[in-house]
Amino acid sequence: MCGIVGAIGRKDTNVLNYIVTGLKRLEYRGYDSSGICILNEGTFNKVRAVGKIKELEAKLESIKLVSHIGIGHTRWATHGKVSEKNAHPHIAGSVALVHNGIIENYAELKEALIKKDRSFKSETDTEIIAHLIDESYTRTKDPLAAIKSTIKQLKGMFSLGIMFKEDCNSFFAVKCGTPLVVGRDKDSSYIASDVYPLVEYADEYAFLEDHEIAKISPDHITVFNIEGKELEKKFQHLEIKSEDLSKGGYRYYMEKEIHEQPQVMVDTLQDRISASRDKVLLEDLPLTDEDLCRFKRVYIVACGTAWHAGMLGKYFIEKYARVPVEVDVASEFRYRDPILSNDVLTILISQSGETADTLAAGRQAKKSGSFVIAICNKPNSTMNRESDFTIFTQAGSEIGVAATKSFTSQASTMLLLSLYMGKALKTISDDEIKPILNDMVKIPFQMEQVLKHSEIVSNVASMYSKHKTFLFIGRGVHFPIALEGALKLKEITYLHAEGYAAGELKHGPIALVDNELVLVAICPKDELYEKTISNIEEVRARGGDVISIGSEGDERLKAMSNIFIPMPLVSKDLMPLLEVIPVQLLALSVAIQKGADVDKPRNLAKSVTVE
Ligand code: M6R
Repeated sequence: MCGIVGAIGRKDTNVLNYIVTGLKRLEYRGYDSSGICILNEGTFNKVRAVGKIKELEAKLESIKLVSHIGIGHTRWATHGKVSEKNAHPHIAGSVALVHNGIIENYAELKEALIKKDRSFKSETDTEIIAHLIDESYTRTKDPLAAIKSTIKQLKGMFSLGIMFKEDCNSFFAVKCGTPLVVGRDKDSSYIASDVYPLVEYADEYAFLEDHEIAKISPDHITVFNIEGKELEKKFQHLEIKSEDLSKGGYRYYMEKEIHEQPQVMVDTLQDRISASRDKVLLEDLPLTDEDLCRFKRVYIVACGTAWHAGMLGKYFIEKYARVPVEVDVASEFRYRDPILSNDVLTILISQSGETADTLAAGRQAKKSGSFVIAICNKPNSTMNRESDFTIFTQAGSEIGVAATKSFTSQASTMLLLSLYMGKALKTISDDEIKPILNDMVKIPFQMEQVLKHSEIVSNVASMYSKHKTFLFIGRGVHFPIALEGALKLKEITYLHAEGYAAGELKHGPIALVDNELVLVAICPKDELYEKTISNIEEVRARGGDVISIGSEGDERLKAMSNIFIPMPLVSKDLMPLLEVIPVQLLALSVAIQKGADVDKPRNLAKSVTVE
């Protein structure tokens, strides 16, 4: 989704470097055009370009802008096509502005502005905000009053960076629905859509809350509420280092993030398992065992990859806590009038904690009296603030648009939560929990082993990158991995891929099978093994090639497969944490073969902050 940056320093500084670096660090959010605007003695200078930031940089190369104050933007088109005239910043009279979000009532506001003889240069909803602020500012010459009166008229979600032509000593930031962070060092101040642009620039940062307005000056950031009352804002020390943002020797962030999974598992389990390894530690959960026994049903709500982790959560909770679980994609859940009450536990799963549909589902659940637990990777996220309790996944920064390490941390957190619930509900004993936790702590080592198969997988990629269709199948806990494998492949390679419960093969997808189809079968040895083996036979008999992911030493499966990827022998519930790695690697390798943009696939955004 769109990204915002802005900076102001001493008069003898140039903020261009921060703005361009910041925009690059927001590239992962997904964008189609970009732009910047600086202020020089009462004149706005604006440069915009369609495409990657390097197109903007090429233009800047010939213009050489210098200023101590400026704003920048990466746009992900919602209203109006991808074009230079629709790219931000937008200027109206005395106001230059960048915006992340959607203005729902923009059509009626635009009509009213046209009646007042305001004319528009773009098709965006953003430009009306610039006009509304300018209209009020022209009358009052009071920037804060103009911003306050404008945001009261806007319906939707928006964060804004706003400069006024007559003021080169400060600019403004507004947060309403979509995230915005302010940062400072001793003589410069910054804004950005997340903390990454601030790294190496700001020492301290604070996330703005909804309806807060910040006045950004070189040596001071003042935060107001929507009524104009000055607020105390607590700043935190910025801990992220520049090494955390780099690719650490890998070619792509996604590649690095896949290889970080063993460490992510260590971090996820570290503080959540007792030293005696017979207890899941969730002491901070504000629910007693009796409270947990009160829940008659659980809803797990998420989108995309997080939804696949939620599907595993259903298996785990039903198995260990014996409570019925429904898993829903958030965009369906929020509009289907789900049956919610205070005896329903709602679990939201999200890496970013900013996914609009998942947030809306959480609000709905909370309004109906349901207790809401978030499983989320971002401490400063809206989801953390709005949920009754958050279990933080320890995945660290995930920059690649394709979710990888966030999935394994979400899935393992779901397993821990299900064991904790099972203990409270007395459906599982400490003695039964112990071997599961003991096995879990070995997973990071087994992940290392699986990562060694990168080479096999990259050979597979060169054999199959020209094939037309990939069909991923699995049963039980392996079914969500089939869905995840198909999602990863289509997302970053743009190939047609489908994920199916293996038992559904005969109900339709088998019609796709010919010698252009590749079957990816997740088929380790468990009680459903023979059934999946039969499905593989059916595909082979019709000319499809088979890549299988199975148990180490399974000669039978190996003999039936064109490519066999062996997995270490682990208990069934833990298998998905390993099986997901080869499907991630497969997508990565095929994408590299095809020369695709691995970390920033077309049309996708890292964080889907609008519906
Ligand atoms: O930030 P979230 O976990 O809420 O994001 C949910 C999905 O948008 C996300 O998993 C998406 O499907 C990824 N691009 C998948 O790789």
